[in-house]
This record gives sequence, C-alpha cells and structure tokens, in this order.
Amino acid sequence: MDAIRVRGGTPLQGRIPIAGAKNACLALMPATLLTEEPLTLTNAPRLSDIRTMGLLLESLGAEVAALQDGRVLALASHTPTEPRADYEIVRRMRASVLVLGPLLARLGRAEVSLPGGCAIGARPVDLHQMAMERLGAELELRDGYLHARAPRGLRGAVVEFPVVSVGATENTLMAATLARGTTVIRNAAREPEIVDLAQCLRAMGARIEGEGTSEITIEGVHHLHGATHRVVPDRIELGTYMLAPAIAGGEVECLGGRLDLVAAFAEKLADAGVEVSETADGLSVRRTGDRVRAVDVQTAPFPGFPTDLQAQMMALMTTAEGTSQLEERIFENRFMHAPELGRMGARIDVQGGVATVTGVDRLKGAPVMATDLRASVSLILAALAAEGETVVRRVYHLDRGYERLEEKLGACGADIERIRE
Ligand code: UD1
Repeated sequence: MDAIRVRGGTPLQGRIPIAGAKNACLALMPATLLTEEPLTLTNAPRLSDIRTMGLLLESLGAEVAALQDGRVLALASHTPTEPRADYEIVRRMRASVLVLGPLLARLGRAEVSLPGGCAIGARPVDLHQMAMERLGAELELRDGYLHARAPRGLRGAVVEFPVVSVGATENTLMAATLARGTTVIRNAAREPEIVDLAQCLRAMGARIEGEGTSEITIEGVHHLHGATHRVVPDRIELGTYMLAPAIAGGEVECLGGRLDLVAAFAEKLADAGVEVSETADGLSVRRTGDRVRAVDVQTAPFPGFPTDLQAQMMALMTTAEGTSQLEERIFENRFMHAPELGRMGARIDVQGGVATVTGVDRLKGAPVMATDLRASVSLILAALAAEGETVVRRVYHLDRGYERLEEKLGACGADIERIRE
C-alpha cells in the first residue's frame, strides 16, 4: 500500500495550481442524467472519487469519457437503462446519492443503495428522502435500498430543510429542473458548489433563481439540453495549500485561488498572523512571524468556516502561540486526526464537539495513520512543520480528494515522497 514520507522543517516557496472542485464536480456529473444531449465538464479534478462517480454513471447506462488526461469529462446519457445505484459503488462514496434526484426527474424511478456508515458521523439521507417526497415521489426502504417512484412525474413544491444540507439541496435542485411547476427550496445550502451546479443547469436550459442565497426558486421545464461548463476551483484544496506556508513558513502562491471562496477561512488566517494577498493569478500566502497566534474556530455552513478545513486548521493550531478552541458543528465524529496529531507531540484535548489545542514549540515526526480525507491531509501539513521524518499510512483517503499532492508540495521545496510499503 502507498504511504507518504515527509521530512519536515523546510520553509516553502513557490506556486501551486488549484484544481477544479471535487465536490462541485461530484454534483455536476449526475446532471448528465437529466438530458439525452452531451454534457462536457472542463477543469475537472483527477481524483479517485471522480472515477468512482464515472463508474456509477456508467452503471446507469451513461457514457463517460475522460479526455485531456482527465481534465475534461465528456458525459452523455442518451437512454439511461438501469436506474439502480448499486451498493458496491455507493458504499465507496456517499456522494453517489446525488443520482437520486436526476434519475427520478428523468425516468420517474430510482433505486439507490443507502450509503451506510461513514467515519465522520452517521450522515443519514433523510433530508434527501423528505425533499423527493415533497416533490411527489413515493419512497420505500427495502433490502438496504431506497426505492423511489414518481409514475406521474415530479411536481414543484416548497421544500424547507430543517438543517442546511449541501447534498440534499443539490438533489432537490436537479430534480426540480424537470418537475411540473415551481419549486422553492428554503434554508438551502449556499456553498459555491451549489452556485456552480445552478450555473451549469441554467446553461442546460433550467430556470433557476436565488442560488447562493438560502432561498432558491426553480421553474420546471420540459426538457434540458447539453452544455459545456467549467468546474469552479476547489476551495478546500485552496484552503489546504494556503495552510502549507502558514505552518511550514515561507510563501506560496495558489494559482486560480479566489478570496470569495475562502473568505471566513482567510479571515481566521489573518487573525493568526498569516498574510493573504490577492495577486494577478490567485492568492499569495506568507507567514509573517516565527509562530502563528492561536485563534478559535467554529465550523458552520457556507459562508462560515468549512468543516472540510477544520482538521487542517487544527494542524496549524498545534504549533500556534497560545490555546485555541476548535468547535465542530456539522459532523459529530470529526476529530479522528487529534490522536494522530498527538503522536507527533501536539497537545489536544477533545471534549464532545470541542477540541482545545495548546500550541507547542515544535512537532516531532512519527508514523501516523490517515483516517479520512481531510484528516489525512492535516497530518501531511503537520509533518511539513515537524522535526524529522513522518510516514503517513493509508493515503488512499488522500487520493480521493488531492491530485498529485506530493508533486505540488515538492515543487515548493517540501521534502515529500510517495513510497510503496
Ligand atoms: C458535503 C460535502 C462534504 C462536506 C459537507 C458539509 C460533497 C460531496 N461533500 O457533504 O465534503 O463536509 O457537505 O459541508 O459535497 N444530514 C442529515 N440528513 C441528510 C443529509 C445530511 O441529517 O439527509 C446532516 C449531516 O449528517 C450533517 C449535516 O446534515 O450533519 C450536513 O451534511 P451535508 O451538508 O448534507 O453534507 P454532504 O452533502 O453529505
């Protein structure tokens, strides 16, 4: 199995290109199921999660071609045949549930395996289910599958979410494009990935207003057509690489980075004493002092501080001057990186949803284990600052969300390599 070895202590200097957003692309790909015409996505990230979504779409009868070394995805769903998302694929990736809305809208039926447990919490799909029911579908849970039917087609409705859900908003948005009448999504997620999906659907002929606010209105249309859409930059990859010079020292320019995608996060970095400036090509990040200052963080739906950057921010706080509190409000079990960071000398006390981090002068390299996608990259960040050698195992988690991570950091002077054990 692959592992990543890092010898820490080198300040970084260089430029890192930011890829297209994994989470946007995972929602955009199923949109191909809404039309028989081709959908082309450019600026796609080359990640195992994207390949998994490709396999899922193929299993549903769609054509999926990765062109230009995977940067361009040419999708087509002329005649979707099998509206069944099989457990074998769904269990690998929760985002598989995003085929539910499009299949129901196009075919009037869908069978989607329940995603099952997940390392970062229970993550149910009840909100997806509720939304489809509001749009007139009948859903039944049988044999571990959600069996959904809308024999007379979906009809517009008011869908009000009790909590903000990115995935359930995306499913509802896609389903409503082909529903009869008007749908209003209340308490909708406002993430940039939602805005990106709405823009793509609009290019396909959908009538949508209000994306990026908590109320989205969709006028259903009879038919959607093909489109070409450029995937928005990955704000989580961006935030992660912004943290690299913050923790290791030096200066890194993140090419394609946009401040509006990471505003709340960049504000916290500034509070910690990290300089973030806009350049002609992206965002440049530089640590001003020897150590950063401790700052408190609470995760929240966009535009708040993203849960997907909490683990990485914790890595930075392990060497900050002072004590910081990180509160996780989106997922209940998302501190698995804390004990691994502890193996590198970090002082972290977790009580329920709050981690208290007391900064230390220096971390020390150690063998550690990745437990999920963002946790694994937090260990890499910590390793960049640590004295000596760190080996991060189980990096297949990392490959789900970061393309060529060791090359990108290596190009900035980090001593990092992938090894086979
Ligand atoms: C998406 C992102 C993920 C990110 C998360 C929160 C993708 C592919 N993944 O995940 O990286 O961490 O947003 O920003 O875009 N919930 C329910 N019932 C449901 C659905 C969700 O209770 O039916 C809860 C979840 O358990 C969680 C909260 O709602 O506590 C938010 O989850 P949600 O926004 O749905 O996350 P995902 O769309 O799965």
